[in-house]
Amino acid sequence: MFNQLSALPADPILGLLTQYRQDPSEHKVDLGVGVYKDEAGHTPVLSCVKKAEQQRVNQEQSKVYIGPTGSPLFNQRITELSFGQSHSALLADRVRTVSTPGGTGALRVAADLIKQSNPDATIWVSDPTWANHTGLFEAAGLTVKTYPYYDYETKTLKFEQMVDKLKTIPSTDVVLFHACCHNPSGMDLTSDQWDIIVAATQQQGFTPLIDMAYQGFGEGIDEDAYGVRKMAANVDNMLLCASCSKNFGLYRERIGACSIVAKNAATANIALSVMLYVIRCNYSMPPAHGAALVETILDSSELTQEWHRELKVMRDRINGNRALLVNKLKQNGVERDFGFIAKQKGMFSFLGITPQQVAELQQRYSVYMVDSSRISIAGIAPTNIEYLANSIAKVL
Ligand code: LMR
Repeated sequence: MFNQLSALPADPILGLLTQYRQDPSEHKVDLGVGVYKDEAGHTPVLSCVKKAEQQRVNQEQSKVYIGPTGSPLFNQRITELSFGQSHSALLADRVRTVSTPGGTGALRVAADLIKQSNPDATIWVSDPTWANHTGLFEAAGLTVKTYPYYDYETKTLKFEQMVDKLKTIPSTDVVLFHACCHNPSGMDLTSDQWDIIVAATQQQGFTPLIDMAYQGFGEGIDEDAYGVRKMAANVDNMLLCASCSKNFGLYRERIGACSIVAKNAATANIALSVMLYVIRCNYSMPPAHGAALVETILDSSELTQEWHRELKVMRDRINGNRALLVNKLKQNGVERDFGFIAKQKGMFSFLGITPQQVAELQQRYSVYMVDSSRISIAGIAPTNIEYLANSIAKVL
């Protein structure tokens, strides 16, 4: 059986982790995988998570199966966090949420549900998008096509072209949007642009699938969910995939959520029943630990406040790193304008250098980034910024 297989290359993002860990250089810089790092280059367990974990150890009574929907309390709290507590779709009982193994698990559940709803659906993703989107949707049997998004020359959005393309997409298809902190470009839609996108979605009648992997990393919890909330208030059908990997720092616990927004409660229940079927056929039920931590935090006003403070520290550090990199590149004599990095949002930006320059940075200077020149801004620290800016200046 396995003799028929040909080896595949390592994942373009996760493969970097192994290479970086094996590199003996004492100067090495990791701008690869999108994980938050503090100034010491460490990915900490948040203090609110530690406290929630302690409570859980004391209170947990059983490890019995949790069921395909996951924890009802987590599902309620994460839904309120995403949509806002008094969102019209929640008040109208149009939303159903399940816990999933991370944001990737949420995307796969959404993809399987789409396949059940319309086996011929095409899913449209931004050009560019997260490297795993295409493989994930194709693995679920969907056709993947792209709409224009990022202009590599001007480092801005191709907004008019994007809207023109959306206005050609039929009601039977699905369009994936990034809620905030666009991965990989860091170019987000403004509120005004979201309003135009929502109007185009209403006009065309396609189903929006919003991927919200970085809520709170852009401008704030509510600001980052503007598009999600506006869309859910104005369309009959929508899917939302949320992740707690970044904003709760729960990467390896694998906790996310997939929400269905339907026209009414009856339709939402039917869609949920199909979603539970695809979950059962896939991984049966989600892991419970991460969900228990998130629900403990969101159910306690004290822990929630602490989480907001810790989230702000992470957000401010990333934004500070953006300005720092732009300034240090200038100070190292780089004439090319990298000012766009300071204007973008979230964990990532494209440096905009060639694949050869990316390879040279890795081979000669042990600076790791994705081939596309996507950098994870959180990997920048006071201890490596001089070396990093100097190495970039040299390959330029
Ligand atoms: C990334 O884009 O680096 C993160 O979302 C991690 C991953 O799974 O790719």
